[in-house]
Amino acid sequence: MFFDHIEAAPADPILGLTEAFKNDPREGKINLGAGVYQNEDGVNPILNCVKAAEKKILETETSKSYLPITGLPEYGRIVRELIFGKDSQIVTAERAVTCHCPGGTGALRMGADFIKQQNVASTIWICDPTWANHYQIAANAGLNFERYPYYDRATHGLAFDRMLETLSQAKEGDVVLLHACCHNPTGIDPTVEQWEQIADFLKEKKLLPFMDFAYQGFGRGIEEDAQGLRIIASRCPEMLIASSFSKNLGLYNERVGALTIVCQDKDSAARVLSQLKITIRSSISNPPAHGEKIVTTVLSDVNLRAQWEEELAEMRNRIRDMRVLLAAKLKEYGAGDFDFVVEQNGMFSFSGLNKEQVEALKKDHGIYIVGSGRICVACINTRNVEPLAKAIAAVVKA
Ligand code: LMR
Repeated sequence: MFFDHIEAAPADPILGLTEAFKNDPREGKINLGAGVYQNEDGVNPILNCVKAAEKKILETETSKSYLPITGLPEYGRIVRELIFGKDSQIVTAERAVTCHCPGGTGALRMGADFIKQQNVASTIWICDPTWANHYQIAANAGLNFERYPYYDRATHGLAFDRMLETLSQAKEGDVVLLHACCHNPTGIDPTVEQWEQIADFLKEKKLLPFMDFAYQGFGRGIEEDAQGLRIIASRCPEMLIASSFSKNLGLYNERVGALTIVCQDKDSAARVLSQLKITIRSSISNPPAHGEKIVTTVLSDVNLRAQWEEELAEMRNRIRDMRVLLAAKLKEYGAGDFDFVVEQNGMFSFSGLNKEQVEALKKDHGIYIVGSGRICVACINTRNVEPLAKAIAAVVKA
């Protein structure tokens, strides 16, 4: 038998929760696992700008032929302008190249594959805690990974000194993975001053930044959320960026993300792109078109873009409101001081609940959150916040 030796793997720590939730027969169950935005009605909506773009695409599309290996050039331009800003020297000097990858995950994997295949580096430093998929993406691409501390439980803040202290063990040429904004799972981002120190540190130690930029617009705003990344780019001449439209355009199942590689000059960028094409060709051949066309349609039309910015702000502000409400309800039900939840950015809140408490939430209350204690605040609404706060208070006091 060829497959007899294969052992059953554990369920995915995030997407596996959605499966378990679906199989739970209890009424009133609440899923705060996967990072998928829901509106006040508990529905993951299709944005109006996306619907309008899809209508346009359906009416004008004339062919289903292959896209170029790296996707449409227009898509790459839009991605780079969003990341760096239209007038950035990286954009005007054509120092960066972009390929459309299937979601942020696809971009991370393509970047890791590229690093491995081109002998760019052999070790990648990844924060702890991080998005559960990061470590296995690195490992499956054949990279060694090391962890650096990120979160300080006592202050619910960034463990900045410990982070740099650990990273000082990195060897010249190693890669450092950083969350550009809305850190997943903690919701804690460096301040501008800390980004500047990180940038100087990476430059001095000759480390290669790899930015995971999956939540642009979900923290403080489209431009604001790019600030840390742009500070890094102003100091470090080369970097990789994995970005995504899953969250900010709500295009989760269209798998529309991008890998952007910044090089020291245009000539180097052209060589990188030529090799990147081989990485892509040998894994996905060329990208799927629909999501990419939605993005280019929305972002190149003045009115649709304005509508997108409004809809994105609405999602961002609703999450902020839910943070305030959750902290207030937790106080009301005697769960303790959770004011730190209000300060965190993006879709998630790192609640500080331990494994036993997370398990009790599921078993006794039908509430699903990630094992690390991560709560998807983007799935909280004015109705489920009450049972959620009561249940958290119950498990905290137990
Ligand atoms: C999450 O962290 O929940 C999202 O990024 C969804 C995923 O793919 O894990």
